[in-house]
Amino acid sequence: MKIVRRATFNAAHRLYRKDWSHEKNDEVFGLCNNVNYHGHNYVLEVGIDGKIDPETGYVIDVKILKDIISNVVTDRYDHKNLNMDCPEFFDLNPTVENIAMVCYNNLLPHLQAYGKLSIKLYETEKNWVEYDGE
Ligand code: NI
Repeated sequence: MKIVRRATFNAAHRLYRKDWSHEKNDEVFGLCNNVNYHGHNYVLEVGIDGKIDPETGYVIDVKILKDIISNVVTDRYDHKNLNMDCPEFFDLNPTVENIAMVCYNNLLPHLQAYGKLSIKLYETEKNWVEYDGE
């Protein structure tokens, strides 16, 4: 049984490597390398595949899941500039892949007791990544 909770956050980012020239960053990252940043409305889906607790009927109480996602992800990233406000991205390019990996790794210790964690992170309606630690 898999339960999924959706959360949203808005954040700005710029894709570039500090150790590359502006020309190379432009070539590889194009518009995403805009020096004045740009924003996305991210949608995060956090899934837990686990067993139903026969006492409560829950895989996890959604209130608990909601609070964990708020503490670990949305309170940290909502209305932030990921490159400038969030130390985890000072030296890690905030691609949707890397953001998803960081979210997963930070959620895992709080959720692994309930089942197998997997996440989806949508950067746009057309682009998303899925990650389950593998
Ligand atoms: Ni972008």
